[in-house]
Amino acid sequence: MTEEVHEGPYKSELQPAYRSGAFPTASRPHEREAAVKRCGHYPFRFPRDHRQMNSRFTVEENGRLLLRFFYFERRLAQALGAWTLSIPDFEVMLETGRHIFWHADAAYQLRQRLYEQEIPLREVDDFRDEQIDLFIEEMLSAEDTAELLVGVHQVAGDALRIAYRHHIDNTDAVTDAPTIRLLQRILIDVEPMLAWATEAVDAYVEGGVDESCLLRWRWHLQRLLGSIGGVTGTETPNEEPSPLRCHEKPFKRGTIPMRDSRFVTFKETGDHDVADGEPRFEPGTYEATRLRFVRSQRDEVDAIEAFGTFLWDIRFKDFIAEYHLARITWDEARHTEIGHRSMQTLGYDPFELPNRLTSSHCRGEMVDDDVTYAMAEINLFGEVGVLRTINDLIDLAHDSDDAVIEHIADYIRADERTHVRNGQQILKVMTSLGAQELEHRTREIFTECLVSLGAIKKDEDVLDTGPLSRAEIEKLIGE
Ligand SMILES: [Fe+2]
Ligand SMILES: [Fe+2]
Repeated sequence: MTEEVHEGPYKSELQPAYRSGAFPTASRPHEREAAVKRCGHYPFRFPRDHRQMNSRFTVEENGRLLLRFFYFERRLAQALGAWTLSIPDFEVMLETGRHIFWHADAAYQLRQRLYEQEIPLREVDDFRDEQIDLFIEEMLSAEDTAELLVGVHQVAGDALRIAYRHHIDNTDAVTDAPTIRLLQRILIDVEPMLAWATEAVDAYVEGGVDESCLLRWRWHLQRLLGSIGGVTGTETPNEEPSPLRCHEKPFKRGTIPMRDSRFVTFKETGDHDVADGEPRFEPGTYEATRLRFVRSQRDEVDAIEAFGTFLWDIRFKDFIAEYHLARITWDEARHTEIGHRSMQTLGYDPFELPNRLTSSHCRGEMVDDDVTYAMAEINLFGEVGVLRTINDLIDLAHDSDDAVIEHIADYIRADERTHVRNGQQILKVMTSLGAQELEHRTREIFTECLVSLGAIKKDEDVLDTGPLSRAEIEKLIGE
């Protein structure tokens, strides 16, 4: 006896009709007429919604594309972080500090949407793509900052901008409205970022950077992106260009901080007064304290380097830790700007005041597992140290009727408190060491580094008597 197979009612007859859109409609004329009448009497003519539905992407296809966008954004945030120690130009450094967060935040928003498209967060965070990684490695092999900007913004960034626009136009405006809104919001950051990059690359060319080298690099990276099917992976691939710089020499991040030629720098001491030769104001006076604060903020260009570098060094350990690091990097770029502008407000040319590189020299060279101590130093000593003194500074500024310092310190205090809190979460991802052990080892390593830079005299036998105390380090590195 053969078993009868039920495929569901009328399946074989009705499917082709559904496909052609010829749906059977069970509309009743009297109900229809009544509806028309009710609508005719309804007094309000609200704006018509002109969005159209289409079935271009399934949820799965949508997720596949958004996952690639997520991965590109995550990798671009990491990649810019990797270069922070190697960017000498002040304005480019500030913008890069911001852009690191623009990319991380785009990744964060895409990750949320991916979760809604039924991809578990663990799967989103674990996603890797070797072809995209190859593109990023090659992009990182830029020979200078101008080439870096070409790769990050004019090749990858621009391709993402176009892909986002296409996706906004292509996906269903009603069923997938959350994706459209999120891409539009990402574009609010992307478009001015790319416009700035165009002007920055022009500035490099006008200042003497060889334009043909930049054009060749742009062409090379565009071909490489084309060879992996573009950012979506769906374009017809071209041949992979050859040779690739990253095959000849794998990318390694920089370890030495750079400053452009407008700066005078010092690293043999953490104390501005010592570096200046003679103090500008009587130590202990309000004028000395406020100038030290403003200079420390401008010198936080080293904090952009620190947090950007950590983002690269701990990449793929934990997405949320990367996200917090990216946000702190932007905040430190703001603190740097605040310091720079405040110097001007106080009557200085910001480049006349020497820039402290002490901590950045110590942190920059710490790679692999040691990076935890670099993070601990800036978080446990630098940022906690600021919070120890900033309340008194704000009170003094208030009593002195110094609205500039009172205002900037108020915002910086809120930022640094947030950094201390979020920094604890990041440290947990970076190390399994207990708080005491971490602090002790960090003090040891930084004492050694400060000795090697000449910031502490060896003949004081500092290494024999143990590492510097927390208070001494806080004073010397003063973030
Ligand atoms: Fe800061
Ligand atoms: Fe901070």
